[in-house]
Amino acid sequence: MRQEQSPVTVLGLETSCDETAAAVVRLDERGAAVLGDVVLGQAERHAPYKGVVPEIAARAHVEGLDGAIAAAMAQAGVGFEDLDAVAATAGPGLIGGVMVGHVTGKAIALARGVPLIGINHLEGHALSPRLTAPLAFPYLLLLASGGHCQFVAVLGIGDYRRLGSTIDDALGEAFDKTAKLLGLGFPGGPEVERLAARGDPTRFDLPRPLVGREGCDFSFAGLKTAVLRAAEALGELNEQDRADLCAGFQAAALEVVADRTRNAMRLFAPYWGAQGRLVVAGGVAANQALRRALEALAAEAGYAFHAPPLRWCTDNAAMIALAGAERFRSGFTDTPEGYFGAPARARWPLDQDAAILRPTHQAGRKGVKA
Ligand code: KG4
Ligand code: ZN
Repeated sequence: MRQEQSPVTVLGLETSCDETAAAVVRLDERGAAVLGDVVLGQAERHAPYKGVVPEIAARAHVEGLDGAIAAAMAQAGVGFEDLDAVAATAGPGLIGGVMVGHVTGKAIALARGVPLIGINHLEGHALSPRLTAPLAFPYLLLLASGGHCQFVAVLGIGDYRRLGSTIDDALGEAFDKTAKLLGLGFPGGPEVERLAARGDPTRFDLPRPLVGREGCDFSFAGLKTAVLRAAEALGELNEQDRADLCAGFQAAALEVVADRTRNAMRLFAPYWGAQGRLVVAGGVAANQALRRALEALAAEAGYAFHAPPLRWCTDNAAMIALAGAERFRSGFTDTPEGYFGAPARARWPLDQDAAILRPTHQAGRKGVKA
């Protein structure tokens, strides 16, 4: 059934990592309106471990999700009877957490007799720029988060081609590991960016992995190890040492991103419409230096540049609700019969997403980095 004309109101749930999030989005032909949007962070629970602990995250989702849903719906001024569908992240992510949101979504959808739409978390990030602007397809997406780092040609709803991805660490992961080895707080990305602003990026000679090579894959493991070696060579680190290491790391990482982006634009050329568009999404898109670098690259290549507002760069449920609403309006839903057939998945590559449009789809067994 195609629902293209009528506006749709969708409750979105996101629990795949360490944010417990619920949002209500209304989508009509003019675009998306975020009516309610609640994100409960868990950073203080994970901070002692300097990383996300899956079991702690899953428990926190169980404790927080009902309240987040109630708050998002109160903000939106809608009741369950106003929902046309429920969208929940069905993967990829920490499986315990994914299951909390997915099962909660199923329960609400079943109780209300509306479709439950299982959303690929990466699709949420991929569509997030459309929360604020009527961004047309196709566009070239750099998705850079704690778990993912890839270039995707976003051709339409459910139509994604991965052009390249990391062969080891994700960019956010590299920021987080760098922060951890320098004894900074968690999450590490914002801390590294803050210190980098006060540091000398030229003091340490750090590698730029894969720069100058073909394609648009990434590698950050060697860079992180080089930062570790430089820190070890110094022994005791003072504030300036830390700032210089952060500045050196960030400058090297951004040079890698710039080189890879130039190649990705070349690979994207066959998909270009009248206007090339470059979009950055995912938690690392909060990094101002990265945004500036990409904006400059886009201008140089004649591309338009878009980045979602900061609150929708990091994990949130508005992007999941939007992806659900877009799928619902396009007629792509899990049917009521499929409620309990659609699995939660720890791994789920975005470019196999076309499979969800076929009723026979199975859970992916291949890793996102496979
Ligand atoms: O998208 P996201 O909230 O969660 C995942 O799906 O991974 O991304 C979180 C990641 C973390 O690695 C965090 O350190 C990074 O985004 N991040 C940043 C900044 N803000 C968040 N990295 C660099 N600079 C920032 N300002
Ligand atoms: Zn994410």
